[in-house]
Amino acid sequence: MNNTFSAVKIADHVYWVGAIDWTLRDFHGYLTSRGTTYNAYLILADKITLIDTVKAPYKDEMLSRIASIVEPQRITYVVSNHSEMDHSGCLPDMIELAKPEKVFASAMGVKALHDHFHWDHEIISIKDGESVSLGNMNLRFFETKMLHWPDSMFTYLPEEQVLFSQDGFGMHLASSERFDDEISDEILYFEAAKYYANIILPFSPIVTRTLDKLLKLNLPINLIATDHGPIWRKGIQKIVDLYAKWARHDPSNKCVIIYDTMWQSTRKMTQAIAEGAAAAGAKVKVMPLSASHRSDVAVEMLDASALLVGSPTINTGIFPTVADVMTYLDGLKPSNLIGAAFGSYGWSGEAVRIVEDMLAEMRVELVEKAISAKYVPTDGILAQCHSLGRLVAEKLKQRCSGTT
Ligand code: FEO
Repeated sequence: MNNTFSAVKIADHVYWVGAIDWTLRDFHGYLTSRGTTYNAYLILADKITLIDTVKAPYKDEMLSRIASIVEPQRITYVVSNHSEMDHSGCLPDMIELAKPEKVFASAMGVKALHDHFHWDHEIISIKDGESVSLGNMNLRFFETKMLHWPDSMFTYLPEEQVLFSQDGFGMHLASSERFDDEISDEILYFEAAKYYANIILPFSPIVTRTLDKLLKLNLPINLIATDHGPIWRKGIQKIVDLYAKWARHDPSNKCVIIYDTMWQSTRKMTQAIAEGAAAAGAKVKVMPLSASHRSDVAVEMLDASALLVGSPTINTGIFPTVADVMTYLDGLKPSNLIGAAFGSYGWSGEAVRIVEDMLAEMRVELVEKAISAKYVPTDGILAQCHSLGRLVAEKLKQRCSGTT
């Protein structure tokens, strides 16, 4: 076994033994510009316990980190908090190598692991709130079903006050630093927001319920040890508060305009809408889809309350980049949005109607009928676009003040 990698002590009896993926740039369509980590943790209790594993190609890195403190064969228990392959990919190899006495997962986790590996290993199903003794320490488990998979659960180590939260509170960020306070706030909170917007957002009601439950349990927490990115040590309250805020999605005066263009007509309409909205007090973010990744649009939408979508008609349909982003956003289930469609066309003009249907499907409240420009927008059409921007800003103001 190579000895390149070392474990990192994060608490008296807990070590980070994960892997750093500096190269990852795409995670299921999410642009991971800063790579990621797959975090696994080793608890040096009487029963030595591994919490989660890593993506299969990173097995040797994890084993090397484990071996830097203890022979992997001494692992007695393994806990699978989440069966997605970035955390359980090398679980079969770990079981083969360490032959642990017991492997634990939630009831849905047991099923998911069987469905992934089609194996005959016995995995012990753990119930919500159940505890397991590690001899001199204990583990307590909390189901977090659909946060973000049916199998997901958190594991708590009371003796060290560590909450192992799998994907929850995580981020895709490769770094040589292991703790939040070793990373600049600008990068840390941008990547945390990006992760929430792209992975957690559809499950916001479950985030709210989970946070309420944790609040009632009043668990003392020194560390939140996530499965991706840095371990929360200093910013625990801040990231918990941000999760509560992102899950609520309070009204804001922010308007996101996404568009693509063929001969600059839809771009001119975009500019007029943006000018109108900004002049009436909205915070405006314009995102040309020729240069904006879908996952960056998602992060801008996290604190926005309006979505305006511009598409030219091409071959009786919508522009491919617009279709891509709208399909992606629809899956993320953003809530409480107002919006409108606009775009240019040559002869048939289907795009704006298709976009309107997509917005309606996303339960976006349409504030105005779609604006269409034949070939090139006239001054009159641009004035309509400017008015649309103003109208959106006024509606956002009303929402922020609670008058609608
Ligand atoms: Fe990081 Fe849902 O896997």
